[in-house]
Amino acid sequence: MSALDLSALIRRRQYLRGVTASVLAPALISSLVPRSALAASGKGVTLRFSHVVAEETPKGLAANRFKVLVEQRSGGRIRVLIYPDTQLYGDADEMQALQLGAVDMLAPSLSKFGPIGFPEFEMFDLPFLFGQVADVRRITQGPLGQRLLERLKRHGMIGLGYFDNGFKQMSANRPLLSPADFVGLRMRIQASRVIAAQMRALGAQPVSLPFSETRQALEAGVVDGTENPISNFWTQRMDEVQTDLSLTEHGYLGYAVVVNQRFWLSLSLDDRELLEQALREALAYGNKIADAQNDKALAALRQAGTTRIHVLSEAQRERLRHAVEPVHKALASRIGLSWINAMRDALNQHT
Ligand code: SIN
Repeated sequence: MSALDLSALIRRRQYLRGVTASVLAPALISSLVPRSALAASGKGVTLRFSHVVAEETPKGLAANRFKVLVEQRSGGRIRVLIYPDTQLYGDADEMQALQLGAVDMLAPSLSKFGPIGFPEFEMFDLPFLFGQVADVRRITQGPLGQRLLERLKRHGMIGLGYFDNGFKQMSANRPLLSPADFVGLRMRIQASRVIAAQMRALGAQPVSLPFSETRQALEAGVVDGTENPISNFWTQRMDEVQTDLSLTEHGYLGYAVVVNQRFWLSLSLDDRELLEQALREALAYGNKIADAQNDKALAALRQAGTTRIHVLSEAQRERLRHAVEPVHKALASRIGLSWINAMRDALNQHT
């Protein structure tokens, strides 16, 4: 990235978040200082972990658990600074910021790797592909998942692991129970071609927006609806701007944890091991609580009474599934046929 791009990135942050230069500059400046000397001498290490969702989500809670474990086990020598809720970087710039070294760790949703040159990650977005989270884990916890993470090195990132949020639900200001209900709606999506194709197959118009801008866009009527697991929907209080949530469970949302390669290589082997172990435990914790967080959010939503909740019948889900079926074939060449085949093999292995 050129100096020009860098200053544009900083200006964008300042504009978007109203953050003063004095807050952002230290993060960027410290990224330019080699840390290897510090790490090698056993001195302090600071790891900046940025993410876009609220703390009371599976990702927010897993990130906080990681911080606690690392700081405890290193006796405070390794500090983990968590920036949740797009406080530091959002979907529009977090990947760039990581590659630049302005932040050290991210946990973007798997859908967000397609636009930066890894369309194979969009396999996880294929609608109605996974019956349960255990199916996803056949990919993420096996050799295929590892091969996908290995690819990220091409862009200066090290992939350290995966974890789940859960299944996405559709929301709008009307129930979304059949393909006809989607016709003409502008639906906010993550920047994934597979998700865009899914919305088009349903008759809706996909509008790609950063997560942090979604609630406002719904409120302003820039978009009519969206899709997300309930914990994201609830913690952004999208219920205040959407009258109906339809429990479609049509697609999966999960994350990959990535670190800046230079940062990672600057750490001692012992520190890397400590971080990897803490992350393994934090991700296992995230996976364990993900369903409970989504259930808790659903209960809170019911309690709030702001949004009508619709449970789909099997026949209704089947009609949606049928409508989006062509997406699998249409997007196979974007994802890559060899990846699709490897994915099918992984899914069939334990059935
Ligand atoms: C996230 O869970 O990280 C955000 C997902 C989205 O952008 O919809």
